Amino acid sequence: MGVLEKEILAPVSGTYNLENYEAIRETFSWDDAAKGLSFEKTGKINAAYETIDRHVDEGYGDKIALHYVDGDERRILTFKEVKEKTDLYARVLRDNGVRKGDRVFVFLPKTPECYISILAIIKIGAIAGPLFEAFMEEAVKDRINDCKGTVLITDKEMVKRVPQSEIQSLHTILDVENIENTVYEETAADPVEWVDLEDGMLIHYTSGSTGKPKGVLHAHRAVIHHYVSGKWVLDVKDDDVYWCTSHPGWVTGSVYGLFAPWLNRATIVIQGGRFKAENWYRLIAELKVTIWYSAPTAFRMLLSQGDILKNYDLSSLRHVLSVGEPLNPEVIYWAWEQLGVRIHDTWWMTETGGHLIVNLPAEKIKPGSMGRPFPGITVGILDEKGKELPRGSVGQLAVRTPWPGLMKEIWGNQDRFDAYFKYEGWYVSGDLAYQDEEDYVFFQSRDDDMINSAGERIGPFEVESKLIEHPAVAEAGVIGKPDPIRGELVKAFITLRPGFTESKELLEEIRVFVRNNLAAHVAPREIEVLEELPKTVISGKILRRELKEMEILRTKKSN
Ligand code: WTA
Repeated sequence: MGVLEKEILAPVSGTYNLENYEAIRETFSWDDAAKGLSFEKTGKINAAYETIDRHVDEGYGDKIALHYVDGDERRILTFKEVKEKTDLYARVLRDNGVRKGDRVFVFLPKTPECYISILAIIKIGAIAGPLFEAFMEEAVKDRINDCKGTVLITDKEMVKRVPQSEIQSLHTILDVENIENTVYEETAADPVEWVDLEDGMLIHYTSGSTGKPKGVLHAHRAVIHHYVSGKWVLDVKDDDVYWCTSHPGWVTGSVYGLFAPWLNRATIVIQGGRFKAENWYRLIAELKVTIWYSAPTAFRMLLSQGDILKNYDLSSLRHVLSVGEPLNPEVIYWAWEQLGVRIHDTWWMTETGGHLIVNLPAEKIKPGSMGRPFPGITVGILDEKGKELPRGSVGQLAVRTPWPGLMKEIWGNQDRFDAYFKYEGWYVSGDLAYQDEEDYVFFQSRDDDMINSAGERIGPFEVESKLIEHPAVAEAGVIGKPDPIRGELVKAFITLRPGFTESKELLEEIRVFVRNNLAAHVAPREIEVLEELPKTVISGKILRRELKEMEILRTKKSN
């Protein structure tokens, strides 16, 4: 690929929702962008109403809202059916004492019921907390406890991983099957609660490099950002079939798996089950998916499986997007040659609530770059004093505040919230990047110890804390080790307590201990025992950076 490395990809000919992007960048205002949403006319807002009910009121009730695919199972729901189910769930929640502002969690696999639960919670003015389906007891408990969730929607299988006795605030657990079987009079009142743009709607827990995961709270105003980025970046049109591969427990799965496409009235695909190249290709061919949003790790896995894509008709694909981790130029060229589509990288974070740096479909793509700032967004590359650096210099990737998707708070932790805004007028991302003369932004690395494995944010502190709970582990330092498929994989360096000796079995036992208590995706894929861990002289803090440098040096030597 060496020769092609710098080749710029021109837009594929076609018509896109946003063509005159340079002019829009000059005149953009968020107020204009919100036109098309109903609160602009009525003055009343509710994100769930805007996402689903509005389309029924505007005459699109019979349009297909979702295709559900899991193994051989197939289900279809129209917008009207999604609205009615959402109403039902909303009434059950009300009858179980849920009120505006309460935190209600959803712990379900990727099923229509998971999406409907999230909307129902928001519909009655409560705050939805979607949990990733693979979480184990401790991860579930920590999150619900942190913001004192009162009600949880789950099912008979997953409830086994909910340690209810350790979650004091949780007074009710609802089984989706029971909700589905509840019957209300046809004349029951409309459950929509009209709220303020600033009222909370969604809480996502995400990792930082220190401490437990933080609860990132978004307000109803975020739907303005979801709506317009769905229109311009996802380029959703009425005849599209849209598939986002992420689970709604992650912010990509909620914002760009649920809100943004549905705000733009897309027919979405909800797929159950684990990643398997054949199944993914079959799904695209069967449902004639036109827009596909996934992550570099998934694309790299598909690429590594070689020619099997030739067995499927993937010609329906017209627009492909990527998020969550650096997208290698090699992957972009693979998709271009094999699928005839460009992969459009997008950059944002749980905290930013929506896209901030994007490759618009009508703009040229520079492989290796995440794209250009979204209209209305100003990026700055800052030095350690918060001063803007000239083009081409690597510095802290920051964004001018505010914008509608920007988080409202970190639940119960003003200090952690304030840390993002240490320079007046800027949101500081924690990423390092540079920007070229044409505004394209190039990701360099994180500015902290956060690990990004397969696009999932993993806080080393959380993994280290779990490791040292194991009786054999004295100390632990956890890093992201570079990996060709997953970007990084979780590697732990540990020291053993006296009386324990290293063995394959012991290391496996430690790994399983983390997996069973926290979650599979955070369990170290490699554990290495050291005599001692590098530490700072004064505070005795474990130096993850040194561990990482050592690991990178070794990998280089062995190649
Ligand atoms: C990283 C996911 C390179 C980045 C939406 C960021 C990326 C963190 C990209 C946020 C990209 C996200 N290229 N790195 N296109 N997109 N990241 O909160 O380090 O799970 O700070 O949000 O992922 O992860 P989060």
